[in-house]
Amino acid sequence: MIFSTMPAFKARIANALEARRQKGLTRQVRTIEGGNQAKLFHQKDGYVNFSSNDYLGLANDKELSLAWQKGIELYGNGSGASPLVTGFSPAHQNLETALCEWLGFSRAILFSSGFSANQALIFGLLEKGDLLLQDKLNHASLMEAGQLSPATMKRFLHNDLNSLKKLLTQEALVITEGVFSMDGDLSPLAELRAVTKDHAWLAVDDAHGIGVLGEQGQGSCHYANIKPDILIVTFGKAFGLSGAAILCNEEVGDYLTQFARHHVYSTAIPPSQAYALTHAIGMIQTQSWRREKLGELQHIYRECFSRFDGYVETETPIKPILLGEASLAIDVAEQLKSKGHWLTAIRPPTVPNGTARLRITLTSNHTLEQVRQLASCFEEAIERVS
Ligand SMILES: Cc1ncc(COP(=O)(O)O)c(C=O)c1O
Repeated sequence: MIFSTMPAFKARIANALEARRQKGLTRQVRTIEGGNQAKLFHQKDGYVNFSSNDYLGLANDKELSLAWQKGIELYGNGSGASPLVTGFSPAHQNLETALCEWLGFSRAILFSSGFSANQALIFGLLEKGDLLLQDKLNHASLMEAGQLSPATMKRFLHNDLNSLKKLLTQEALVITEGVFSMDGDLSPLAELRAVTKDHAWLAVDDAHGIGVLGEQGQGSCHYANIKPDILIVTFGKAFGLSGAAILCNEEVGDYLTQFARHHVYSTAIPPSQAYALTHAIGMIQTQSWRREKLGELQHIYRECFSRFDGYVETETPIKPILLGEASLAIDVAEQLKSKGHWLTAIRPPTVPNGTARLRITLTSNHTLEQVRQLASCFEEAIERVS
């Protein structure tokens, strides 16, 4: 039999792409120069970058580049194997130790991305008959793993303790984000810790809180003065690099070392990257001026934007402006782009229908004037569409 034409796959692909096009939701990969800087370039035009997650301005920081170069001198290029084979170097060990000391856990297990760390946790830990409770707005990596895992997954209303309590009918794994990636709001971690104390394990994905919140950037849990059972931190945002770690106790660490498939069966991150990440921890701890600068920028942002409809107050550098329909969000984003501001219109399916928004992110590399300029162009754009 010959299957060369694969009509079913072809039809599926064509239909899915057409459905996206018709809804105006087609996404595009663009080639961006300087996407890790406050000013980026696209097709030779320059824009102020309000879209990156490089909150502390480390993604293009020279001190960190030098550390990575030093890591290459010391350890060479790739890790050469997965961690349980020969891929785990002293640089990886030092990174795990630094993370544990900084964040107050006994063990840290490294992953090449936050996506894989989240999937590894859920697939590694949960079995049929288990209950997984997730905040409704958790990241796709958590939701997808929950849906595919053999456990029963239920979603509680966003940051709603009563909704969680109703679903907490047996021992469970409860997962929330520390800072929600699309809304920039904080999870009520102290209350969640109290609710889960006796009946559940609490896992916090702090991709957007680590480095940003807490005195030395220890993140949302430190800021809320709680210790979750499991903490996931990612290195692609405030760390300015990439990768992730799951922090936990000795027993869970031993278990994940055996059974976290994305750790066991995946090439370890380059040792030079682990070396740079350890250096980044030192920078995050000691260079508090980066967080202070973010504080100043947030203050100016509030001053300039709080009078607009759709303004949302957040304690974090993630600043959503709710606009409703996807077409409106795209229209306003395009107008801002024409004035030299690069920001993303976030549309369904990333956010619920009717809640399309501009997602503005501040980084410590921005100037106060850049935020003021953005506000004045936003006002013009809104006047034009209303
Ligand atoms: C809350 C959250 N968790 C996990 C991830 C995935 O992390 P990574 O980009 O390292 O795969 C992201 C975003 O990218 C995120 O926003």
